[in-house]
Amino acid sequence: MAGKIPRQFIDELLVRVDIVDIIDSHVPLKKMGSNYTARCPFHNEKSPSFNVNRNKQFYHCFGCGAGGNVISFLMEFNHLSFVETIEELATVAGVEIPYENQTGYEPEAKNKLVELQEIMAACATFYTQQLKKHPQKQIAVEYLKNRGITGVIARDFMIGYAPDGWQILSPHFKNTELLCEAGMLAFKNDMYYDRFRQRIMFPIRNKRGHVIGFGGRVLDDSQQPKYLNSPETPLFHKSNEVYGLYELLKKNPKPARILIVEGYMDVVTLAQFGIDYSVAALGTNLTATQLQLLFRSTPEVILCFDGDNAGQNAAWKAMDAVFSVLNDNRQVRVLILPSPHDPDSLLREEGTQAFLQRIENAEMVSSYFFNHFTATLNLDSIEGRAKLAGQAKPFLLKLADGFFKNMMLAKLEELTHFDVAPEIEKETVAPPQNQHQKEKNVRHSMERLTLALLVQNPKLATKLEANPIDWQTLEFSGIDIFKAIVQKICIEKPTSTAQLLEHYRGLPEEKMLNALASLPILIPDDGIEAEFSGGLKQLILQGRKNRLNKLVEKEKTEGLTKDEKDFLRRLLQF
Ligand code: GTP
Ligand code: MN
Repeated sequence: MAGKIPRQFIDELLVRVDIVDIIDSHVPLKKMGSNYTARCPFHNEKSPSFNVNRNKQFYHCFGCGAGGNVISFLMEFNHLSFVETIEELATVAGVEIPYENQTGYEPEAKNKLVELQEIMAACATFYTQQLKKHPQKQIAVEYLKNRGITGVIARDFMIGYAPDGWQILSPHFKNTELLCEAGMLAFKNDMYYDRFRQRIMFPIRNKRGHVIGFGGRVLDDSQQPKYLNSPETPLFHKSNEVYGLYELLKKNPKPARILIVEGYMDVVTLAQFGIDYSVAALGTNLTATQLQLLFRSTPEVILCFDGDNAGQNAAWKAMDAVFSVLNDNRQVRVLILPSPHDPDSLLREEGTQAFLQRIENAEMVSSYFFNHFTATLNLDSIEGRAKLAGQAKPFLLKLADGFFKNMMLAKLEELTHFDVAPEIEKETVAPPQNQHQKEKNVRHSMERLTLALLVQNPKLATKLEANPIDWQTLEFSGIDIFKAIVQKICIEKPTSTAQLLEHYRGLPEEKMLNALASLPILIPDDGIEAEFSGGLKQLILQGRKNRLNKLVEKEKTEGLTKDEKDFLRRLLQF
């Protein structure tokens, strides 16, 4: 397993860097009172509604709702992953990341990864050299020529040749163990031997250009399997990676769209025909992680599948992943090629212009999705429409709230002649989001305001430590989340809102925490403590009253147990 970054290190990092400096170096900020403002980099606007707060180490845009700590900003602004962002921040702060393993700190873990990266890079170079100088190189060169691969493209993709032989890498690199960990050797009958033999080698590089795995194709189609991939290793997780992304981003770091195709050869041929924005999923079902990876670099992904049954099935299977990552800012289209073609064969048959036209005409995922059902179900019957509603529902449930989801629901209603939204709403998971949406329209409740004060000023928790709350005696709406957040703050003792938010990254409560952090509270700094204490006092009083009323009510209707009676007595003493 790749080393994890210790939580504590991330906390420390958030102390070392200043959100105002970091954002200012990306978007020049202007000081306005205690805040810094700018025109929001995440949406188009004429007057600045983007605010950065140094005390909270938090940014928020009142225009588009974007908000978070410095990590969130860099992830959004630079389209980086979480780990990449931490690495960048560590560089800014001039500190080394102490990668840890499950067993605790283990600084060697990082070195192991570096060693693996180095040997993979060396193998890739070795294979490219074999294509140039191995005595049997001609058969590989001929194969590539026959498939129409030019030298330039072979170089861009670092295509190589694994010669025919069971013991080539080990004697050359003299590090059997490392080669084995890197997935380059296999072990059988007490022997290590080369995994890739007599194959065309396609190195799989991660976004940063490190070789993390290989795909190897046989030269002779009678051999099996046609393609062999590297096994899972500490560097290579097939379902998180795609082939060709590094090569693509090198040509164009901000492509308007990315095409996902099925095969290595498809990516290579597309690039050779000037369509240099495709990647391939690595012979597995497309995953949400792979899509997220692509959406960090582009707003549009086009799924391109072969027209055979396998391709059509794979396209439909991809919908699971697609629906779980779609939102209003992302677009997905689907392009099914005429059978029996794949992009490689079709391009060679009809040329670039015709293929580009197909990309232009690719179907919107919304239309592909509904057509999939309408092609097979009889929507003139109630039965058919019920089936449609039933089959479409699990997909719509995955969608993030937003216009796209609402429009998909509207379309489903149109097709089923039925008000499906309440059914879907009922089952929508992610209660914090919905609760937040509902609460948006009402006046801030006392619970919400008090909690927001605490989230925006986590140091107030010291007030609570002096006077711990007896939660058992309280009852109010949202008490569970209130309690959970208060307890988290008391345990973690975050020094800023930014640090607190970091503890919720990726958790279901993250959105709610962000909303609390950006709730506008018009209280001057020197009044915050009093406001919080006052709010808390009221909340506790009201909470006790609610709890009391509940017990009294129960006493009247079904009577109380002995414990409850004792508890009631205790409550009455307050
Ligand atoms: P060419 O025959 O070289 O044009 O390859 P292709 O990319 O058109 O092959 P195909 O459509 O058959 O396969 C698409 C992708 O599935 C390949 O690029 C591989 O990633 C994967 N794949 C194909 N065959 C095999 C196999 O036998 N084993 C494994 N593990 N993966 C395969
Ligand atoms: Mn092919």
